[in-house]
Amino acid sequence: MDNGEAFWWYITIKAPESQEDLLYSIADATGSIGAELRELPEGLILKAYYRASKDLESWVSRVNEAISKEPNMAIVDMGKVENRQWHVAWRDAFPPLLVGERFVVMAPWHKGNEPAGHIPIYIYPGSAFGTGYHESTQIALSLLSRHCRSGMTAIDVGSGSGILSIACWCLGARKVYARDVDPATLEEARRNFELNEVEEGAIELSSGDGLTGLPVAVDLIVANILLEELLRLIPDIGVHLKDGGVAIFSGLILKERESFLDALQRAGFYALDELEKEEWWGVAATRSA
Ligand SMILES: C[S@@+](CC[C@H](N)C(=O)[O-])C[C@H]1O[C@@H](n2cnc3c(N)ncnc32)[C@H](O)[C@@H]1O
Repeated sequence: MDNGEAFWWYITIKAPESQEDLLYSIADATGSIGAELRELPEGLILKAYYRASKDLESWVSRVNEAISKEPNMAIVDMGKVENRQWHVAWRDAFPPLLVGERFVVMAPWHKGNEPAGHIPIYIYPGSAFGTGYHESTQIALSLLSRHCRSGMTAIDVGSGSGILSIACWCLGARKVYARDVDPATLEEARRNFELNEVEEGAIELSSGDGLTGLPVAVDLIVANILLEELLRLIPDIGVHLKDGGVAIFSGLILKERESFLDALQRAGFYALDELEKEEWWGVAATRSA
């Protein structure tokens, strides 16, 4: 988190009860750096915080676009929050988040309060990509918990905050190659690796497009990126995945399922496992015999 910022914007969204996940997902997808949920008798209120680097209007138009298909959601308040007050709000904004059967994603200040029976992944909530609140990240984490095994080697394409690489490492992967096309994410990922006390050299971080120029073949590849990028990636998966290896794709919505499964089949892969959450969908695939 950049403590040097003088203020942040906030946008408050109201929604009916039971839309908690969708609200967090909208905050994440619109670039929010943190959010606080309140349950009121009349429904849910999410106060989502945004960086001051853009003006409030542009954040509001992003949020309006994101909620345009949700007739029961609306922006009810917006404004500025001074840095000093932020620190109070910040700590409450990221309660530990249980993901799938095995993981709990936690902010660093929750260290020491891990819920029993879950593998903790610590993430600085200021991470721009991959705080764990988005459904596509949760789908990828759940599929990893089913298919990533001890001793495997792995590649995380579009590593963002590094959350999926950390998950692979927590599940016993002996070497993970994390890469992102956006060099600005690398420092963030590095900080999260340190926060999780990832062994030196266990995760190798690089900037690059897809799998281009990565001279390795691994047991598992995970990618949580958009459809067009995933489709572009499929031919290279064949080159970088060992026989018997598993490729996990997330970042897709349910209506893209059929066409993505067709693309996998044309490339010689078949679906081993599928998962959906809200309108999001992900798949673990392997090479056809
Ligand atoms: C939705 S975020 C996922 C972050 C994190 N892996 C997660 O699951 O929460 C997508 C990330 O992929 C990166 N990305 C998008 N296209 C890419 C590409 N062709 N090659 C590598 N990284 C890419 C973006 O910069 C962004 O950090």
